Amino acid sequence: MTPVSIGLLGLGTVGGGTVNVLTRNADEISRRAGREIRIAMASTRDMTRERICELEGFDLVQDPFAVVDHPDIEVIVELIGGETLAKDLVLRAIYHGKHVVTANKALIAVHGNEIFAAAQEQGVTVAFEAAVAGGISIIKTIREGLAGNRIEWLAGIINGTGNYILSAMRDDGKDFSEALAEAQHLGYAEADPTIDVEGIDAAHKLTILAATAFGIPLQFDKVYTEGIGGLDQADIRYAEQLGYRIKHLGIARRTDRGVEMRVHPTLIPERRLIANVEGVMNAVLIYGDAVGPTLHYGAGAGAHPTASSVVADIIDVVRALTTDPNNRVPHLAFQPNALTDLPILAAEDFESAYCLRMDAQDRPGVLADVARILGELNISIEAILQKEPRAQQKTATVIIMTQRTRERFINRALAQIEGLDAINRPVKRIRVEHLDSSGT
Ligand code: NDP
Ligand code: HSE
Repeated sequence: MTPVSIGLLGLGTVGGGTVNVLTRNADEISRRAGREIRIAMASTRDMTRERICELEGFDLVQDPFAVVDHPDIEVIVELIGGETLAKDLVLRAIYHGKHVVTANKALIAVHGNEIFAAAQEQGVTVAFEAAVAGGISIIKTIREGLAGNRIEWLAGIINGTGNYILSAMRDDGKDFSEALAEAQHLGYAEADPTIDVEGIDAAHKLTILAATAFGIPLQFDKVYTEGIGGLDQADIRYAEQLGYRIKHLGIARRTDRGVEMRVHPTLIPERRLIANVEGVMNAVLIYGDAVGPTLHYGAGAGAHPTASSVVADIIDVVRALTTDPNNRVPHLAFQPNALTDLPILAAEDFESAYCLRMDAQDRPGVLADVARILGELNISIEAILQKEPRAQQKTATVIIMTQRTRERFINRALAQIEGLDAINRPVKRIRVEHLDSSGT
């Protein structure tokens, strides 16, 4: 059989990794795919920059549209990133009837509905395994492996950069900016690392996970998003004293009232496997009604782990070139005409437990006032930790763990607690998820 010609857009961290994997595993890949896969052409912006891969055996060009428009290329692999140029290139490739593989979660989360509709019309595939959790095959797992389940919830560490930073702060006492610089040097961070730090990258990925898990359209603008920028060493230490780890989680949960989609720092009991996922590793915990909890773990970023997913997608596409196009797995796991319109809950309607940290004047009655406010709002206290004020200090640190409640009640409680004379503003709040196996 003739080889399948593919075109790569971008030869940075992931593009370079993809060339390396396709080259070094070429024999095994062609045995798996049933066809030889040949990189015909690749594009980069800077033709002189040193790359992590060899630049031999294919044409290297500066104009990515030259790759997309090349008549011999059947599969376009978009590894540039961003939303604007990438969208134009991907839509043009689809218009030309070419299949697309991309690692670009921003593109899929924000423009996926439009891109999939165009792909459906043209009868081509858009594959995006590498867009979520790097080297973990999480999209395939949800779309295929767990297809018999009603998925109730999922929770994941889905940003390698953020997890790398939190691990370096906890284990090595590194400060935030030093850890971020390391993650950038290792190729984990986005071109603009605020996308990682502010939780936007995780929100992109959660959008995709929720859509494939629950059969809803991609709705990035409805994800509640908090980053890790507000965390400090004290949060990490206090969490440890209470038997918890702080992780930056993306959580999607089906409730009777709608779907929660949220990304924020979260306390997790340290005995949970997911609490022990460190460095660039990612993990996604999925609760299906039939299978119960399953945990999927692996490298969440980096050249070769991500290339592993990109190449798997290329192989899937190449395999599909010889099968009935109407029998392909749908982009969002559900048939496009079978997506449902479940409401997405506003943040005020989320349910969670909370860890509240406040500095209180060291005088009688303060804790009683705080407990009264929580009690009046029906918020039960799970545990209280009070640190003695240090010499010369007039305030004591109080940490309160609550049981699960609605976010609107905690917001009201915080407003009242911060209004007490004896409490310094602001009171810090971190959500707590026990992630047990109860399916709720
Ligand atoms: P890099 O910045 O390392 O590489 C981007 C590539 O695209 C480079 O070759 C760059 O060219 C080229 N490029 C950038 N802008 C333009 C432009 N305007 N016109 C033409 N070419 C351009 O990014 P990554 O490889 O890290 O990421 C690529 C994609 O993969 C992104 O969508 C990212 O979110 C995603 N991803 C990244 C992961 C990672 O671990 N890094 C993991 C999972 C997904 P040049 O080098 O010449 O500047
Ligand atoms: N910047 C992303 C991360 C790359 O750190 O997880 C992988 O998607």
